[in-house]
Amino acid sequence: MKHIDVKELFTNGEKYKNTVVTVCGWVRTWRDSKSVSFIELNDGTSLKNVQLVIEKGALDENQVRAALVVGAALQVEGKFIPSERNGYEISVLKITVLGGCPQDYPLQKKHHTLEFLRTIPHLRPRAKYFEAVFAVRSRLAYAIHKYFQEHGYKYVHTPIITGSDCEGAGEMFRVTTQPWNAKAKTESEYFGGDFFGAKAGLTVSGQLEGEVAAMGLGKIYTFGPTFRAEHSNTTRHAAEFWQIEPEVCFCDLHDIIEIAEDFIKFIIKDVMESCPEELAYFDERIEKGLIEKLKHVISSDFGKITYTQAVEVLKNSKKEFKYPVEWGCDLQTEHERYLTEEYFKKPVFVTDYPADIKAFYMKQNPDNKTVAATDLLVPGIGEIIGCSEREADIEKLKAAMTKRGMPLEAYAEYLDTRKYGSVPHSGFGLGFERIIMYITGVQNIRDTLLYPRTVGSL
Ligand code: 4AD
Ligand code: MG
Repeated sequence: MKHIDVKELFTNGEKYKNTVVTVCGWVRTWRDSKSVSFIELNDGTSLKNVQLVIEKGALDENQVRAALVVGAALQVEGKFIPSERNGYEISVLKITVLGGCPQDYPLQKKHHTLEFLRTIPHLRPRAKYFEAVFAVRSRLAYAIHKYFQEHGYKYVHTPIITGSDCEGAGEMFRVTTQPWNAKAKTESEYFGGDFFGAKAGLTVSGQLEGEVAAMGLGKIYTFGPTFRAEHSNTTRHAAEFWQIEPEVCFCDLHDIIEIAEDFIKFIIKDVMESCPEELAYFDERIEKGLIEKLKHVISSDFGKITYTQAVEVLKNSKKEFKYPVEWGCDLQTEHERYLTEEYFKKPVFVTDYPADIKAFYMKQNPDNKTVAATDLLVPGIGEIIGCSEREADIEKLKAAMTKRGMPLEAYAEYLDTRKYGSVPHSGFGLGFERIIMYITGVQNIRDTLLYPRTVGSL
């Protein structure tokens, strides 16, 4: 269908000025006056609607009536002319209704609550809010690839179906083709009869396979879906979310922190330059001061504090936390938010966590108590990155696995990376939806995904 994107019309207005153009889109709103009718048409390429002006009597009345319908899909031919209020508008010469829209169309009003929109995931991409979110999501994905490609990283595709629970948190979804009434007497018999002849699940992280790739390719990143059967029904947890996981050889914790900070600043800056209309909309509609916040983030150093110091800060804060803080405890969201929102008032790396609350693969510090790990916390959300230097010493790694009751045989290949030419290496995982929330101000992870998957809701 020959037509021009609304985005293109507004970007290169001069080029189309006073010419006849064809546009397509959906009617967002319309209004009637004595001599003219107005339609706000949106085609999804731009947050901006193009205004259609229909002179009374100029077109067939039945056709105009069929077009003055919220939600209807139109193809319109008309003259693209300068207008005082909108920059440009289209004086309509011809209208074709591509798809009518009955009265029960749920998006009749201009503003709907996000709760309501969550009940119609198949229609909400037509609401301005989601048009803006998905525009940023798309650009952010591009910026992420751009950063790594420009810095010499190879994009690797790690498996989605896997046998290893990288984080060891027991949150793997199972993948099976067994009939529902499989009659096995033992667990090994049950899984032995399954498709892979072994217990299989959906990956919680591409890290272990990413490490394998990095141990030959030097610097890699993954960018794919990860899955966690976490029962945390919060605004920040999804059962299916996307993760970006770079893995870098010849790199210690200090180096990877520098990379993570540089990377976060790069992608924020890119979105600020590429999506100014969307960010202005979020600033007005969701988070006042959002753009100022982002400017501050890209122009100042992130904070840094050790876990041990952070525990002292929290204890001295005189805040009433729901979960009391003691050295050795896992930091809860309320603690993370205090540190980043009230104490630092900017993103902060918390480093050197107790080994007992972190995963097996992290490099053990000489104190024998902590590991060379860091979480990046940001105001409004808490953790967006989980990061660490990896344990490169095969004996220490085996000991950490044994301590956690992990079967070493199952990880023989992973251990080979430490047996044959082991090197210091580090990596991190950025939650894609969490960084989208941070950049847009969106409050609920369910509003960053086309079809959010959360506990109890498919
Ligand atoms: O901290 P996590 O569990 O780290 C890892 O998975 C490491 N293997 C990463 C690595 O070093 N390669 O998860 C990383 C990030 C978190 O910081 C968070 O942003 C996001 O993934 N995340 C979730 N996002 C949405 N919903 C969930 N249920 C999430 N769980 C983790
Ligand atoms: Mg984590």
